[in-house]
Amino acid sequence: MSNLKTGGGKRIFMQEVCPRDGLQNEAVFVPTAEKIALVNRLSQCGFAKVEVTSFTSPKAIPALSDAEEVMKGIRRTEGVEYSVLVPNMRGAERAMACQIDEANLVMSASESHNFTNLRMGREASFNQLSQVIAEIKGSEVAINVSLSAAFGCPFEGDVPENSVMNFIDRFASLGVRGITLCDTTGMAYPTQVASLCQKVKKYFPELETTLHFHDTRGLALANTLAALSEGIDRFDASTGGLGGCPYAPGASGNVCTEDMVHMLTLMGYETQVDLPRLMGISRGLASLIGHEVHGSVVRAGKRDDLHVMPESLEQNFNACRQAREQV
Ligand code: COA
Ligand code: ZN
Repeated sequence: MSNLKTGGGKRIFMQEVCPRDGLQNEAVFVPTAEKIALVNRLSQCGFAKVEVTSFTSPKAIPALSDAEEVMKGIRRTEGVEYSVLVPNMRGAERAMACQIDEANLVMSASESHNFTNLRMGREASFNQLSQVIAEIKGSEVAINVSLSAAFGCPFEGDVPENSVMNFIDRFASLGVRGITLCDTTGMAYPTQVASLCQKVKKYFPELETTLHFHDTRGLALANTLAALSEGIDRFDASTGGLGGCPYAPGASGNVCTEDMVHMLTLMGYETQVDLPRLMGISRGLASLIGHEVHGSVVRAGKRDDLHVMPESLEQNFNACRQAREQV
């Protein structure tokens, strides 16, 4: 039987997005030094990747207007890849001056969400990102593309699987290393996730594929199981379940990293994430952002954090047990 000490089975790559997806949606501006300290602490937890910040317009995302200082201020840990979000050429130029390991380019699979979030249509975004890819390719910086609203759009509803596959195909032809399927507003459901993941694995087996779930409707861990069943081994998640896109109505927290790691480890997967250390970081988030966070495992304790039986009942219980054993 699996337990929280071993894991030890198939490797799952955990990618922490709290410093970017988490903080972009907070009302308070977390001071730069605190952001750097958060990334440095997360770097000690065993993540495969940390998304540090985003090089978006400071008018669009004021909470992350200190992207350069944060990226240049962090202490890098060997084995951790440092990624940043990039929406356009200007963002790419800024990011490339900051020693990033990965540029995470972003556009939406839905026309109206793309327009709301990035102020342009999908084709305009695709053209800009194509130029960014041409510029970065050949450097040491890896390229990932995050497709927002891949499982549903808050304005249009269903986003056809075909149009998601089509954008994956076009980006794959440009030679990107990876693609992230983002459930930006928690509209995905498990059978839908399994269907899309199966197609992506079948037609693009060489692409590094990440699933990015939000828990807006309580389905994020169920969706994770569906993705795992199709062989997905990379997940974005956010400590404390922080996160959300400010330009998607109703968007709320990402799947909570410590809850996901807790589940995966119990199931025997190997995440390499130090769960107690991560839970400590999660407990500290409230003082950083000024409100409680949503993680279940931090609230309830891990499955193996057992409780002492009330003393008044323990004597009776032991007596009953002894009597049973004597029979
Ligand atoms: N970094 C810094 N500044 C940028 C920038 C970038 N990546 N891209 C544009 N700007 C600046 C321009 O220089 C211009 O500045 P000015 O007003 O002082 O002249 C201003 O922003 C507007 O530029 P424009 O090209 O017209 O951009 P826009 O207003 O159409 O916005 C985006 C387009 C993509 C820059 C903006 O919508 C954005 O950053 N969106 C990100 C949304 C996001 O991160 N959502 C959450 C993640 S999914
Ligand atoms: Zn997100």
